[in-house]
Amino acid sequence: MGNQWQKDKKKEYYYKKAKESNYYSRASYKLLQLNNKYRIIKEGNSVVDLGSSPGGWSQVALEKVGSEGLVIGVDLNTIRPINEENFFFIKGDFTTEEIQEKIINTLNEEVDVLISDASPSLSGIKNIDQLRSIDLVKNVIKISELLLRNNGNILIKFFQGEDFNPILRELKKKFRVVKTTKPNSSRKKSSEMYLICLGFKPP
Ligand SMILES: C[S@@+](CC[C@H](N)C(=O)[O-])C[C@H]1O[C@@H](n2cnc3c(N)ncnc32)[C@H](O)[C@@H]1O
Repeated sequence: MGNQWQKDKKKEYYYKKAKESNYYSRASYKLLQLNNKYRIIKEGNSVVDLGSSPGGWSQVALEKVGSEGLVIGVDLNTIRPINEENFFFIKGDFTTEEIQEKIINTLNEEVDVLISDASPSLSGIKNIDQLRSIDLVKNVIKISELLLRNNGNILIKFFQGEDFNPILRELKKKFRVVKTTKPNSSRKKSSEMYLICLGFKPP
């Protein structure tokens, strides 16, 4: 009971904090906490945010890159308005070639950082949801192979499970540092985890 109360209070805490700071989602704090610890996004970077709606991560990414950087958000759903000259939004499914081409055309060069908080539509059945999550993660990795510059970084949400281990082994060959973590602002009961890969080594 006490534990549930504490969890609800924490949920409320980040929800309120996001409202007060004009962030479009409480998820903004996950990116802020992860970025403070791992320095995934730096000033002047170009960032692609896959699964960006309503826009909380894109807002944080824009703060981190500053006026010299660039952020592209991609989502199946529309995003809340972000009126910054260095922000571009692409509506559609990032697993399709059509949308991947649109990202490439908007960028004109390789990207410094790929971030993805994309969630599959959840069935509530753990194994199915994990497979859907793995499919999204594989797509983000495929896009990173198309777009990411030498020494670039990626941050991806995934749902915990054994099926994830082969992906981790593959990533350890492609990046200098690979870590899995869960920020404080992520609800303990959620099986979501975050994968941080730093220092891409293109083949
Ligand atoms: C948890 S929300 C992201 C929240 C966001 N990081 C924020 O801070 O506002 C997950 C998003 O992933 C998007 N998504 C899932 N699969 C996608 C796909 N294949 N292509 C584009 N967007 C996708 C969903 O539409 C949803 O808006």
